[in-house]
Order: sequence, then C-alpha cells, then structure tokens
Amino acid sequence: MANLLSPLSVIILAAGKGTRMKSAFPKVLHQLAGKPLLSHVYDTAISIGAENVCVVYGHEGEMLLNSCKDFKCSFAEQKQQLGTGHAVDHALPYLSMSDTVLILYGDVPLTTEATLKNLVDKVDEETIALLTVKLDDPTGYGRIVRDDNENVQCIVEQKDASPEQLHISEVNTGIMALKADLLRDMLAKINNENAQGEYYLTDVIGLAVAAGKKIEACFAASEHEVAGVNSRVQLAELERIYQLEHAKKLMESGVTLADPSRIDIRGNVSVGQDIFIDTNVTLTGDVSIEDFVQIGQGCVISDSSIAAGTIIKPYSVIENARIGAQVEIGPFARIRPGTEMADGSKVGNFVETKKAIIGAGTKISHLSYIGDSEIGCNVNIGAGTITCNYDGVNKHKTIIKDNAFIGSDTQLIAPVTVGAGVTVAAGSTITKDTSDDVLVISRTKQKEMVGWQRPVKINK
Ligand code: UD1
Ligand code: MG
Repeated sequence: MANLLSPLSVIILAAGKGTRMKSAFPKVLHQLAGKPLLSHVYDTAISIGAENVCVVYGHEGEMLLNSCKDFKCSFAEQKQQLGTGHAVDHALPYLSMSDTVLILYGDVPLTTEATLKNLVDKVDEETIALLTVKLDDPTGYGRIVRDDNENVQCIVEQKDASPEQLHISEVNTGIMALKADLLRDMLAKINNENAQGEYYLTDVIGLAVAAGKKIEACFAASEHEVAGVNSRVQLAELERIYQLEHAKKLMESGVTLADPSRIDIRGNVSVGQDIFIDTNVTLTGDVSIEDFVQIGQGCVISDSSIAAGTIIKPYSVIENARIGAQVEIGPFARIRPGTEMADGSKVGNFVETKKAIIGAGTKISHLSYIGDSEIGCNVNIGAGTITCNYDGVNKHKTIIKDNAFIGSDTQLIAPVTVGAGVTVAAGSTITKDTSDDVLVISRTKQKEMVGWQRPVKINK
C-alpha cells in the first residue's frame, strides 16, 4: 500500500435506526450469508489491514455491543443521530491524527477488498479518495458535482440539489478515505444549515476543495458493492448476489453445481476438484470438501471436513464431524458433533450419530442411534440398534471392537464393551462386557400356545 508509513484506521458508521427493517434489532445485526451485516464490514476492514477500527453505534446499543464481543475495536456511542458528519466526529477521539482514515457503513456489506485498497492507496496529505458510482436512477443519493475539467468540486444531497444537479448520474457511495488530521480540520467547519438540518459528512469534500485539496474519485466496480441495506427486500437481494458470486467461485475451482442459484454458503468453504453438489445444499461455517465428493439434494453441512470420493445422499445433516474417504452417508442421516467416520464406512437412512468414532469399513445402515461410542473396523450394526448412553444423569460409553456383528434391534446399555468378532443376536439387550469371538444372545425363549383363541368382538 502507498500508505505504508501511515497506519490505516477504519470508521464504521452504524448508528442509524433502520426504520424500514421493521425490527426490534439494530439493522446492522441482520444477517447476510449467516453473518451480521456489521461483521461483514468489520471483517473487510481487518482484511485490508486496518490497525484500528471504530464502530459508531446508536440504537439498541447493548444488543449491538453484545453481538460484537469478538471485535478488536473501539466503539463510539452517538446518542442522537444528527448526520453522518456528526457521527464521524464521534469516532475522532479514537483515532491517531497521523492515520489514514477510511469511512465505511455497517449496512453496506459487500464492498470488496480490492476496491477499498485501491481507494486507500490514492490518499496523501493533499488528496481525498472518494468512491462513487453511476446510477441509472440516482434519486436519493448525494450527487458528485464536477467542474469543466472534470475535477470533483463538492457533493450535493438530493434534498439540497438544484434541478440541473438532480440530473447528475454520478453519486456518492459515502465511502471515502483521507488523512485523519484533514478530516478533523474539515469536520470542525461543517454546519447543519441545509434542507435536512443535518451535519453532512459530504460537506467535507467541498470544504477540502476550497482549502486547495484534491479529490480522487474512483468508480465502484459494481452497484452492489456499494449498495446499502435499508429493508428486508434489499437484504434478500444482496443475499442472492452474494450467494451467486460464491457459487461461481466454487464452479471456477472445479465444483459442478446442479443449480448455482440453489446453494447457500454461510462461511468458508474449501474445495477440491470434480465435486458435485446437487440443489438446495447449505454449507455453514468452515467446511472442507475433497476431490470427487458428491453431495445430494437438501444436505446441510456445517463445520465439517469430507475426504475424497465420499457420497452424501439427499437430506443428510452433518455438523462438526470428520468424514473420511469413500464414505457413504444417508439419505436422511444425522451426523452430530464429534462424529469421526473412517474411510469406507457407511451410515444409512435414519441413523443418528454423536461423539462416535466409526472404524474403516463399518456399516450402520438403518434406523440406529450411535452416541458416545467407539466402533472398530468392519463392524456391522443391524437396523434399530441403540446405544443407551444416558442413564438420566450421566453419559456412558459403548465400545464395539473390530469385526463384531450387532443383530437388529439390539440395545447396548452403556458403559459396555462388545468384544472383537462377537455376534450379538438380534433383539438382544447387552448389559455386560462380552468376550471376543462369541455369540451373545439375551432374549426370552419363544413359546407357542397351542389352541389359543383370538378374542371375539362383543356386541352390546
Ligand atoms: C448518505 C450521503 C449521500 C450518499 C448516501 C449513500 C451524507 C450527508 N449523505 O446519505 O451523499 O449518496 O449516503 O448511501 O452523508 N449514520 C449514523 N449517524 C447519523 C447519520 C447516519 O451512524 O447521525 C449512518 C447510518 O446508520 C447509515 C449511514 O450513516 O448507515 C448513512 O446515513 P443515511 O442517513 O442513510 O445517509 P443518506 O441520507 O442515505
Ligand atoms: Mg439520511
């Protein structure tokens, strides 16, 4: 960056009420791609190297501060919202006057790092960098007024603009970068004598020009990177744009998407090649997917890793799990936190696992609950097997050793260990540890009642 000698500070304005959201929550806490709008802006600030971030907040301050506990930044409360200039003024005490300052907005979530770095690079003692955009319909925005030599002169707000100025299609995005001391000096000069009775940050531009400074206007690469969220409709529009962009990134990395408009990415996804993802899949948190994995329709995968060649059939939910290579999951499987499936293992329909280590080649094909368990290699777990891990107070562990065969409808009353090579007969309730290589059976003997009569219907 050109400003190597001058640390970067970022001010994020987030004090507005967001009336049009019709919400009890501050607007900037509404989520895009599973993350608050404000966190998107904060994360961008950090990723472009901000050493110091100050969030200016107002409405529902407690809620906002609670939600931003992980932010390494300062917070300036703006009790009354008297305009963007007034808001920025509240952040000044938290800045060092030798910094370069970038002003961002908590409700403008999709500005790219490249655009902002480019903007910051333009700043020096004599230059303010201003991000502008040309709009077919500029209504509502501040207009960029240029002189005959195309030099920016000032910004005029919609409500203060002359009929000619209203025809200007280049508008202010609100995002600007400048030296902190220049910002301080210009803010000291602004007043609220305008149509809205507000202290306009935008007046800094005209005042700086009058003081002999230069304005470098940079065009935003797209409208959506400078679009703010004022309503839930706009939030949904930006969500779709974000999702499509991220879907394209996946495809560019070698993933086939059945429909790029029907995938939701709410976190960081790392992918290999030749992966297939069917429709309506949601990926949340940190998800890594290796080569040749297939993910069926409607799967929800969060904070998990999936190794090469694994097939996840439709409507499976996987959370905080490590899935090996060539594994088969689902359809309709629920893989809960702490599950680790080794290579070539299988979990079929209506199986729930939790804190379960599942060995290579082991199969749990139907209708089972496997919790707090360690299962060896090449074990076969029959339909309807339940690890009874909870005694109402404590959780206990079930261990099943290699090559065991658990018959259908078995209850394993933990803590319990089933030895290697054991066959458990179907319908058994296993309460004690077993030896290796035996048949274990625990069921009442079958009886036959000869000559038994079915009850007959009584007519009243
Ligand atoms: C502002 C700009 C306008 C620009 C537009 C882009 C000014 C005077 N005008 O207008 O040129 O085209 O943004 O969207 O800056 N905020 C505070 N405290 C306040 C006032 C605002 O934190 O006292 C925050 C709001 O939460 C919001 C942002 O600043 O995120 C912009 O405020 P808003 O009142 O929406 O500005 P506009 O009138 O849209
Ligand atoms: Mg306004």
